[in-house]
Amino acid sequence: MAVREVLVAPDPRLKAKAKPVGKVDDAVRALMDDMVETMYAAKGIGLAAPQIGVSKRIVVMDLAREGEPAEPRKFVDPEIVWASEETVPCEEGCLSVPDQYAEVERPKQVRVRYRDENDKVQEIDCDGLLAVCIQHEMDHLKGVLFVDHLSALKRSMILRKVQKAQRLKAAE
Ligand code: NI
Repeated sequence: MAVREVLVAPDPRLKAKAKPVGKVDDAVRALMDDMVETMYAAKGIGLAAPQIGVSKRIVVMDLAREGEPAEPRKFVDPEIVWASEETVPCEEGCLSVPDQYAEVERPKQVRVRYRDENDKVQEIDCDGLLAVCIQHEMDHLKGVLFVDHLSALKRSMILRKVQKAQRLKAAE
């Protein structure tokens, strides 16, 4: 396993549409292990493959709270097969938009079909933080960041702050 570099906006690789995986084999499982390790190292609760520069439809998440045992979840080729009409706002952040947070409105519940690490088709009903997180991560597979749900003014303000912080970091 290895910790990979997490890309930061406005890296153009974050805007690309990810490709379907097809079969879940050892190479895909190894990639997902790297993604989980990278997510933990960055103290995130979710990570999509495009965020480490891999244009594949893979998402990993772990919503366990601090002090609770780790509970890594892996989703290959996830599809939303149902979404509630009811929407809820939730404050979101993203490892690719570091230290910035904003409220995004999304369907309150979704049902997601995906393949697990054994290449078995599964379905999961998501509500609460799980629903927010999986929709956020699946947006990454379409090249969409949470800031793309905001007004153009808010988005450019946030992206400017991120770029400034990156420049300061590079100059350290
Ligand atoms: Ni994100």
